[in-house]
Amino acid sequence: MEPRRIVALIVAAGSGTRLGGELPKQFAALAGKPMLAHSFAAFSSHPMISETIVAIGAGQEAMLADAVGDARSVTGGATRRESVRAGLEAIAADGGADLVLIHDAARPFLSAEVIDRLIAALDTDPGTVPALPVADTLARGIEVLGETVPRDGLWRVQTPQAFHFDAILDAHRRWPEGEDATDDAQMLRRFGSSVAMVEGDIMLDKVTYPADIAAAEARHAATLISRSAVGYDVHRLEVGEELWLGGVLIPHDKGLSGHSDADVALHAITDALLGCTGEGDIGTHFPPSDPQWKGAASYKFLQHAASIITAKGGVIDFVDLTLICEAPKIGPHRAAMRAKIAELLALGEDQVSIKATTTERLGFTGRGEGIAAQACATVRLPVAGRPA
Ligand code: CTP
Ligand code: MG
Repeated sequence: MEPRRIVALIVAAGSGTRLGGELPKQFAALAGKPMLAHSFAAFSSHPMISETIVAIGAGQEAMLADAVGDARSVTGGATRRESVRAGLEAIAADGGADLVLIHDAARPFLSAEVIDRLIAALDTDPGTVPALPVADTLARGIEVLGETVPRDGLWRVQTPQAFHFDAILDAHRRWPEGEDATDDAQMLRRFGSSVAMVEGDIMLDKVTYPADIAAAEARHAATLISRSAVGYDVHRLEVGEELWLGGVLIPHDKGLSGHSDADVALHAITDALLGCTGEGDIGTHFPPSDPQWKGAASYKFLQHAASIITAKGGVIDFVDLTLICEAPKIGPHRAAMRAKIAELLALGEDQVSIKATTTERLGFTGRGEGIAAQACATVRLPVAGRPA
């Protein structure tokens, strides 16, 4: 049997009027990346999703590329319904799909479990939505409190909403122009199809008003645990070598020798970052026996370690480095190294600290035979089993 083609459609063509801010909310930073990038990553990394397509506003292609890299996009419409329609027509023009999951970019924290539940429910129903029971007292009222609305049997309906592709495309095509719809599931129901409910997720609550940003950040933060790890490295100083420290070329009568460019500072930070993952060290990830790393610029090691953390849905909070040497003096180069390390790790300079010390002319560092570096990294990583 052919594998089913399951396409995700993220609608991100709104203007975010109720939230305000300089950028439409789906492109504004939330929990370390553009809001849209969170759910895009959730779909893209899910093994059953064949393609993720994004409906964006006219002229927002560059913003989309900045947020998620290469992605199939389509220009949305004046209402959410029209944006979904544009996306569905684009999928149809590409040859259609078996199933489609339609999702709001404004609901950033989508877990693989929710995607699994929705896809499973489509075995028996043409449509399905994630929903949570209403917990708060509900009441009507204009300025003063009116009557309570019984909440039995009331649900908060979220997205992604998942459908048999032909069924939801048909509902959109038959929908009367000029009439608006609150969501796609209601459109399917209008034409007599049943829509199943699966368990929703509080993480999927929509970001609509300014106060929702802090709540979303807090929900996300609760899924991460902090870890710190140290790294240590030494390289020999020799005449005739370049001196790379912290990604900066420093004029000096000697340089560090080693398998790579021997940037002892970046190696210590790389080991500290790898230590936070618990998955080995610089030698495990970049074996000296592998010729591709010979003479390699050490920023590649550093950025690879950082990418391991971000691929796990983690964030780097802080990096602290101590260089141990008699010469060169680190002070004059501290600002350049700090800026470089911050740039390499996509951090603010206030998240990078550089310190230096001598060993009072004692030992190999005291005799100028080598430079040692110690680093400590602090990162936050998703709690096991709870994807961001
Ligand atoms: N959306 C869309 N096209 C539109 C309107 C909305 O693709 N013409 C998308 C939004 O980008 C969002 C989702 O639909 O991901 C839910 O809409 P909402 O939360 O209302 O977002 P906005 O319309 O952008 O916000 P506002 O209503 O406050 O302007
Ligand atoms: Mg809107």
